[in-house]
Amino acid sequence: MNYVVVDTYEELSKKASGIIAAQVIMKPDCVLGLATGSTPLGAYKYLAEMCAAGELDFSEVTSVNLDEYAGLDGSHEQSYRYFMDTNLFSKINIDRNKTFVPSGIASDLAHEGEEYDKLIEGLGGIDLQLLGIGVDGHIGFNEPDRVFIAQTHPVNLDESTIDANARFFSSRDDVPRAAITMGMKSIMQAKKILLIANGQNKKAILEKAFSGPVDPMVPASILQLHPDVTVIFSEN
Ligand code: GLP
Repeated sequence: MNYVVVDTYEELSKKASGIIAAQVIMKPDCVLGLATGSTPLGAYKYLAEMCAAGELDFSEVTSVNLDEYAGLDGSHEQSYRYFMDTNLFSKINIDRNKTFVPSGIASDLAHEGEEYDKLIEGLGGIDLQLLGIGVDGHIGFNEPDRVFIAQTHPVNLDESTIDANARFFSSRDDVPRAAITMGMKSIMQAKKILLIANGQNKKAILEKAFSGPVDPMVPASILQLHPDVTVIFSEN
């Protein structure tokens, strides 16, 4: 594991965007696994700038996102589809038909998960998976559990996740209690993984995830078993 500590969020964002840009340059028709949350915003801004400057071409890229809130339509401002459209897809020359986010409004979320896994498999898997990390160690929305769940699946969100994400909603009550998330199989089969974390509140969980035992109660710890992981952390 390549564990990089930087001093500022700007530096984190520049490094992360550099790694994603390198992937797109080396393989223009790559499959990018993308993440939401506040941490990737800086990297997405830099990618948009590079694309606007003609330095980066996303026209052949396909993207698959990690997760989506249950019950939120893509037009809902807090949906992850809306987040991706607003913060990245509308700012780069990616073909929107090649951007995928699991549907949170599918009538059968378990079935939606099966279809999502088939889609990722059909694409030949993920070349580079970008991840954030929750304060409880979740990646995507894979919450602490007795086992690691392989498939894309519906999940009930932990109280700590609801607390952490309440800042994006008008009230805590508005935060959906469930979601659909890519499972560990698609994440672990990604050729490369880039995990980014920012802020003092992530320090303890990073330590647990990467210096402690591999434990489904700390979902990100599974990444210790992946051969090509880069973690970039900025405490400030
Ligand atoms: C959400 C997302 C995760 C993300 C996490 C951390 O719960 N489902 O994919 O990694 O938040 O978000 P942030 O980057 O805002 O700390």
